[in-house]
Amino acid sequence: MATYQDALAVLRRHGQEHLLGFCGELPAQGRQGLLEQIQSIDFDQLDRLIPTHVLSSPAPQLPREIVPAPVLPAAPRDPAAQAAYAQARRRGREAIAAGRVAALVVAGGDGTRLGFAGPKGSLPVTPVRRKTLFQVFAEGLLACRRFYGGNVPWYIMTSPANDAATREFFARNKFFGLPAEDVFFFAQGRMPALGRDGKILLADKGLIAWNPDGHGGSVTALRRSGALDDMARRQIEVISYFQVDNPLVHCVDPLFVGLHLEAGAEMSAKALPKRDPLEKLGNFCLVDGKATVIEYSDLPEELARATRPDGTLKFSAGSIAIHLFSRGFLEKLTAGGECRLPFHRALKKAPCLAPTGVRIQPDQPNAVKLEMFVFDALPLAKETVILETLRDEEFSPVKNSTGEDSLATCLHDQVRRAARWLENAGLRLPRDAAGQPAAAVEISPLAALEADDLIGKIHPERIQAGQELYLE
Ligand code: UTP
Repeated sequence: MATYQDALAVLRRHGQEHLLGFCGELPAQGRQGLLEQIQSIDFDQLDRLIPTHVLSSPAPQLPREIVPAPVLPAAPRDPAAQAAYAQARRRGREAIAAGRVAALVVAGGDGTRLGFAGPKGSLPVTPVRRKTLFQVFAEGLLACRRFYGGNVPWYIMTSPANDAATREFFARNKFFGLPAEDVFFFAQGRMPALGRDGKILLADKGLIAWNPDGHGGSVTALRRSGALDDMARRQIEVISYFQVDNPLVHCVDPLFVGLHLEAGAEMSAKALPKRDPLEKLGNFCLVDGKATVIEYSDLPEELARATRPDGTLKFSAGSIAIHLFSRGFLEKLTAGGECRLPFHRALKKAPCLAPTGVRIQPDQPNAVKLEMFVFDALPLAKETVILETLRDEEFSPVKNSTGEDSLATCLHDQVRRAARWLENAGLRLPRDAAGQPAAAVEISPLAALEADDLIGKIHPERIQAGQELYLE
């Protein structure tokens, strides 16, 4: 058990003794709680990060030569490649059917931009039934059993702040029909928020201002929580990683899994052709022969705008945070107990206590948040596959409360994709003057995981403008 004297000695060594400034005002339990929080901080790590990431901001360490990473096309034209894709799809299906593939959703974070009260995964998102993000993914995984015959266990990364609410949400909804023993919750790690002067902030007299440690924290959290051991017991080979904010994601994609297995890859990624040179997506590059994601803010503008002789963007492949990991790779990364990916800094507004004990509600960013990004594991992989996917098919995240990447844009994108799938299967849909679907259509993953799953299952009737259609 942590004692006051021990904590004070540690804090003095690291110039953070203000954390105990209000300790005398706390009841015994609150005091003990604060001492335990202090004990959980890695001060040596903070001492290394504060000069470079808090008191100054690290200049992007760009290599001299950056070239675009090779990307496999979404649909190859070459017959040999088409045959290879067909083989990969078979192999992926076999792996899913054999129970060798797990799903991993990162559902922690702060969700500051969306501002939704509750775990982001409990946000209702679908156009007709208003299903939540978690329900959409649960149905996707149930559908994997239905379509491919395999059991896909689901690992859900929460944040320390939304862990209890997420578990409660699943229990209340009876796990959306999934066997409870196939759903594994684990919380990501946390980092203290720091003032611009490098001092750790207090959220309250007995509470440090904590931040989740970024989606890159998932690698260590999988190890520490026992999730990796659970995967080993289940003989999982491939882990399909996605973000909680994108209801269009194909949670487990047989082609992607198959290509990853055929290549003997350790980590793979899906890529989108960027909409414009400066779109805020990480760029897939090759650095020293290793696939690497360079953040949009770090890629020099002349490179971002560079074109090929045919006029297309040279660095066109953007990262959308859909990955595959081999279990062996995650085990290797965490062999020492944790995986230290580089930290990135972000400025944020963090309500906190002033040294006088007065509460501060900042209207400007006052704190530095330190987080790890999962794509930084990519260059550590021996072999990688980067597969292009289509934006309309697989990417429409809900990040903001209004405007771009909001619920409104995501609803449109869901309806547009469902309409395309229905028309592909022979249904005639009304369109408005702008050519957009004029009926609200929603397809449960239980009805179709991809467009071709609907072929032969739809009566080619005409539905009327303004009607709703839901398929399960
Ligand atoms: P974002 O980068 O959109 O961050 O996360 P966020 O915390 O959800 O939202 P903002 O930036 O505060 O508005 C991308 C994905 O990574 C997960 C999120 O749940 C989302 O699925 N994530 C992010 C975590 O699981 N943990 C984190 O620490 C950060």
